[in-house]
Amino acid sequence: MPKAKAILFDLDGVLTDTSEYHYRAWKQLADEEGIPLTREENDAHLRGVGRRDSLMYIIRDRHYSEEQIQEMMERKNNYYNQLISQMGPDEVVAGGRELLQEIHQAGMKSAVASASKNCRLVLERLQIIDLFDGIADGYSVINGKPAPDIFVFAAGVVQTPVVDCIGVEDADAGIEAIKTAGMYALGVGPKERFKRADKVVPTMENIRLKDILADE
Ligand code: G6P
Ligand code: MG
Repeated sequence: MPKAKAILFDLDGVLTDTSEYHYRAWKQLADEEGIPLTREENDAHLRGVGRRDSLMYIIRDRHYSEEQIQEMMERKNNYYNQLISQMGPDEVVAGGRELLQEIHQAGMKSAVASASKNCRLVLERLQIIDLFDGIADGYSVINGKPAPDIFVFAAGVVQTPVVDCIGVEDADAGIEAIKTAGMYALGVGPKERFKRADKVVPTMENIRLKDILADE
């Protein structure tokens, strides 16, 4: 992938470990509702999945009115907001800031492609919002991952054709979105998690630009 001109990063679980906070917030809600939810299920079914779809997975065929569904999404979001309000700049993945600076020094663009409506809030808490050329978040598109929309939108924001973009994701739904968008896909996590990733690294910790660009 030597001629990449932009790198589009998912946020939760890639640049910071907020996927843990999403899990804890869902877990609290599930406990209150008396619905079982395990960490393994979260990993396999909720990682990278939008707010409503996550709740639909958790409640499955239990019956709730639309009003109750709205209230539960809001309750989970309140728990999540409480958790992220404690976050600070030290919660950026180790080496993450350096990587973003390196991308700019190499004359490339960087953007965030996150399904989260709390994306800007998290970037502000981490104090990395200014390190990106563009942001695509939960307010940018209608169709969530695995639809390619958020990555295509992010490519547009940084004015880069999709074929010149690398997408970085910790969720298989996100890798699907990147591949469907026609981009090179870097998976972050265990190899078995991803079906179509072009390359996989176990974590973003201390990943440098050369690690991303090198052929496998
Ligand atoms: C990301 C996270 C998911 C989360 C989704 C929506 O994709 O990985 O865990 O459900 O964003 O986030 P939000 O903050 O809008 O509820
Ligand atoms: Mg993620």
